[in-house]
Amino acid sequence: MSDQKRIPQHVAIIMDGNGRWAEKRGKERYEGHIAGVESVRRALRAAANRGVKYLTLYAFSTENWGRPAAEVDALMELFCRSIVNETPELLRQGVEIRMIGDRTRFSEKVQQHLARAEEQTAGGKTLTLILALNYSSRDEIARAVREIARRAAAGELSPAEISEQTIAAALDTAPFPDPDLVIRTSGEQRLSNFLLWQASYAEMWFPEVLWPDFSEQDFDRALEEYARRDRRFGLIK
Ligand code: IPE
Ligand code: IPE
Ligand code: MG
Repeated sequence: MSDQKRIPQHVAIIMDGNGRWAEKRGKERYEGHIAGVESVRRALRAAANRGVKYLTLYAFSTENWGRPAAEVDALMELFCRSIVNETPELLRQGVEIRMIGDRTRFSEKVQQHLARAEEQTAGGKTLTLILALNYSSRDEIARAVREIARRAAAGELSPAEISEQTIAAALDTAPFPDPDLVIRTSGEQRLSNFLLWQASYAEMWFPEVLWPDFSEQDFDRALEEYARRDRRFGLIK
């Protein structure tokens, strides 16, 4: 198999450990989130340089609204600031920004920043950066099922026609291929409601490193491990 074949087309990352990184240093949790933005730049650079075409980053789950208001507010500020500051550079690099998750729960201001970043970077050919914001798989699936049920009730679709493709096409991720590799930092070994449908045959990698310490070498280590895996998709080889 050529080297290119062993590069995952789509890498998805659960960026975990910002709070612990800050606590270890006697800092506030939000300082861990700020440090995490630098890791996003590094991961994006590494992904683009290695020929990965889709990078999904889990930045805020629907469950994260349950954190103290000060932390949620700090995260919203950071999303706005980062998206505005980074868009020109992403545009220059040919990175297209897309979003998955229920954006209707965000403030008007956050929604406008997201929409503008998506419009400005549309058509970028180097890599598609997919931000999972106010995302959870169960919420995404529930929204998709409501839409499919609405179409069935309106007579646009017969229940017997509903296939895996119908469901996949109703998810936020419809335009993108399934992830090949899911990385979760900080040593936790769980999916926390992330891409449950889409990651059915993804390879998983759980490094101990906390997200703000995640380096290009860590990204390369994940790719090396991926290249060694034998993906069988239920078949015999
Ligand atoms: C991940 O880091 C970032 C978000 C969930 C927004 P955490 O904030 O979960 O960091 P830990 O897990 O508490 O260390
Ligand atoms: C998952 O991390 C969500 C994001 C990284 C955005 P959490 O820190 O929220 O997950 P749990 O609570 O450890 O499962
Ligand atoms: Mg966490």
